[in-house]
Amino acid sequence: MDLETVAWLTSDAGRAALAAATAYDDDAHERAAAGEAGAVDPLRASAALRRTTPDAGPAQIAAVLTQVRLRRRARPRLGDVVGHLLLTEDGAEQATRTVVADLRAASFAAAGATHVADLGCGLGLDSLALARAGLAVTAVERDPGVAALARANVAALGLAAHIEVLDGDVTDDVVLTAALRHADAAYVDPARRDTSRSRGGRSARVTEPQQWSPPWSWVEAVAARVPRTAAKVAPGVPHAMTPDGGCTTWTSVDGQLVEAEIAWPALADGRARRRARVVRGDDVVILESAQDLDAETPPPVGPVGAWLHEPDDAVIRAGLVGEVVDRLAGRLLDPHVAYVSTDHDTDLGALSARFAVRHALPYDLDRLRTLLVADGVGTVVVKKRATSLDVDDVRRRLRLPPADGTAVVLLARVGDDPWAYVARTRVPAGLGRAGDATGQ
Ligand SMILES: C[S@@+](CC[C@H](N)C(=O)[O-])C[C@H]1O[C@@H](n2cnc3c(N)ncnc32)[C@H](O)[C@@H]1O
Repeated sequence: MDLETVAWLTSDAGRAALAAATAYDDDAHERAAAGEAGAVDPLRASAALRRTTPDAGPAQIAAVLTQVRLRRRARPRLGDVVGHLLLTEDGAEQATRTVVADLRAASFAAAGATHVADLGCGLGLDSLALARAGLAVTAVERDPGVAALARANVAALGLAAHIEVLDGDVTDDVVLTAALRHADAAYVDPARRDTSRSRGGRSARVTEPQQWSPPWSWVEAVAARVPRTAAKVAPGVPHAMTPDGGCTTWTSVDGQLVEAEIAWPALADGRARRRARVVRGDDVVILESAQDLDAETPPPVGPVGAWLHEPDDAVIRAGLVGEVVDRLAGRLLDPHVAYVSTDHDTDLGALSARFAVRHALPYDLDRLRTLLVADGVGTVVVKKRATSLDVDDVRRRLRLPPADGTAVVLLARVGDDPWAYVARTRVPAGLGRAGDATGQ
């Protein structure tokens, strides 16, 4: 966003226009929820805003409507704070979820940090959380428009006394030295998107850490200079990126794996090398190991019992399925498939969903359908692990006749062959994942 637009959006006229457009949008969504067809209509919203804000030009009207749209889209991830924030498309997508930013900020405070340098602060969601946790922050952003928005966000939340936002490229040593002047801790959330390349209107993801901005070798150099350093990284990072004495934490929120964070030793509390942090509603459950993944004894493997357990994705990425097997006194169905089986009903809460097994069979669509129909099942959730079967395709091809019963079908490759496990346990809310399909 250009600086002129930021200046207008933060002016009295811009704020009044944003408030009017937000009120119109809220009302339109309420009417749509009440069944009014066409209530949410960008052309009508634009016309209404032009009437209430006659002095605004087309670019300003467009900027306000974009803010309203971005805030609505970001609200589930960022919470009510979005009502105070100015956003960009890329900035909102890369912004840390508020619940995770608050947990991170608490870990900086617990490690004794008092002043954090947020090196590449984007719209400032992590900086805001650090300030809420009582820490001082020097934030740096190289995109002048984004830096201006971060500054506006800090001011809108009344945190200007705690957060200073500097313009600059942190890989420039003069800028870095200025950012670290008062800091006793550093945080880096490298940009993992290439804004010069876009797919479907969204900038392309960059997977190679050395291509992130700032690049990973630069992050490591900062950690050598500032012992209390942590970096947010993609959840797919290899375990080998964890520094000696440090810890990587994989976090999921309501069943969705959202990020990983690498902490250097002075920030990594205790002896954990890898940790799963599972956030479900207001609950935060931690599972961790002091051992490196490659030092683990492989869990036992055995036949399916009365229960199947599906560990949370953060547990799987942290390589902690073996811990779940231990806690459940269970076994894996296959050494490479993260389904754990037990003979008894043991509940690990948010760490792992559990299903009471009713049928186990080598995958055969006709046989599966016959069993489901005989059980009076009309609706299935299909889940899968380590098989190329397509859950939507399986669900569609089952063509179950209408019936009241519901079931979960778990598909997994065991040895060389796909198996199907039918469970009657209802899936708790929020367990839907990319590999799930629900329907009749
Ligand atoms: C992933 S975003 C940060 C998001 C932020 N943690 C939040 O939750 O709102 C990364 C930001 O770093 C900025 N950035 C990338 N390279 C930089 C550099 N060398 N110096 C300063 N900022 C940089 C990008 O412009 C981008 O806004």
